[in-house]
Amino acid sequence: MANAYLIYCRAGFEKEAAAELQHFADQYGWRGFIKTKADAGYVLFCGENLPETGDNAPKWRELVFARQLLFVQNAEPLHLEANDRITPIVAVLVGQYFKELALEGADTNDGKSLSNFFKAIAPALKSVLEKRAILRKKAHKNLHLFFLDSTAVYIAFSEVNNSSPWPMGIPRLRFPKDAPSRSTLKLEEAFHYFMDESSQQEWLREGMTGVDLGAAPGGWTWQLVHKGLQVIAIDNGAMDKALMQTGQIEHLRVDGFKYRPERKVNWLVCDMIESPARVATTIASWIADGDAERAIFNLKLPMKKRFEELQHCIELMDDILTDKRVKYHLSFKQLYHDREEVTGYLYRL
Ligand SMILES: C[S@@+](CC[C@H](N)C(=O)[O-])C[C@H]1O[C@@H](n2cnc3c(N)ncnc32)[C@H](O)[C@@H]1O
Repeated sequence: MANAYLIYCRAGFEKEAAAELQHFADQYGWRGFIKTKADAGYVLFCGENLPETGDNAPKWRELVFARQLLFVQNAEPLHLEANDRITPIVAVLVGQYFKELALEGADTNDGKSLSNFFKAIAPALKSVLEKRAILRKKAHKNLHLFFLDSTAVYIAFSEVNNSSPWPMGIPRLRFPKDAPSRSTLKLEEAFHYFMDESSQQEWLREGMTGVDLGAAPGGWTWQLVHKGLQVIAIDNGAMDKALMQTGQIEHLRVDGFKYRPERKVNWLVCDMIESPARVATTIASWIADGDAERAIFNLKLPMKKRFEELQHCIELMDDILTDKRVKYHLSFKQLYHDREEVTGYLYRL
């Protein structure tokens, strides 16, 4: 049993992450309280005997605003002396086993400034943990040492099957040099997050078709084209010239809320900067009407009550789909490359 849950989030989204943890605390019956600071890049839910596994445990994929989900034994950080940081850490860990070790700090300027410190202590720490057999290849948990600074650390672990596979929950994607906008990385990250290798191969291949609502200048369209899809790009704005020369794109300068394709497409993607409720209902209607098989879309959440707005959008989408008796999968994540927004994935079951 853990005494705290620790989640990493985008700095500035602690309130949303906290509201979401509280929502699940009510649903799953966790007793405790939120500990958070503005712009810290992490949030704690502190309690006693919090479930780590089973139906009432938190699920990383349910937590939209969590980049990573960790379990913490002691809700207070361990304080370390500069002359020997390793001994007190090892003392806490004796008798426990972990697959891998991660030294982490928040995704903030303070957190980033710890990288040299991590490089300095990692080799010795890892070697002691291996010698003491605390690190073992067959373990099912990973050890995360989450440093607030070089003298205070939360000792935490993640369940391999209930956590982000990426260090700090941040996938390192390389910007494709011929893509027309950095937004392209949002859709690439969404493919990696929402789909495993085999479903990417099944669902993103030559001969498939897609519609991109709010496509200009073409970062998302580039991702689809790159996978071999034929794309209808909807936007009043101009599309990147080189991208248009692939011959795989039809560009229509029409309203993304009004357009529907003549024939059903495999994919609907949407990155329009518009009201989230309007985007959510549009996407749900496309899938409910069978105009697209799968959708990946962004909801821009610039307002204060972002968590509540997202819940509202989920309810609107559910109303539309349930009205048409459609069984569906819908999930959301605030991806690393997302800013004031979250990304959704919807398809019929
Ligand atoms: C964030 S940009 C899209 C960037 C694009 N995904 C990329 O990767 O290059 C948002 C786009 O949505 C378009 N847009 C906003 N409202 C729209 C609407 N009602 N119909 C069509 N396009 C719209 C804007 O013209 C703008 O080009």
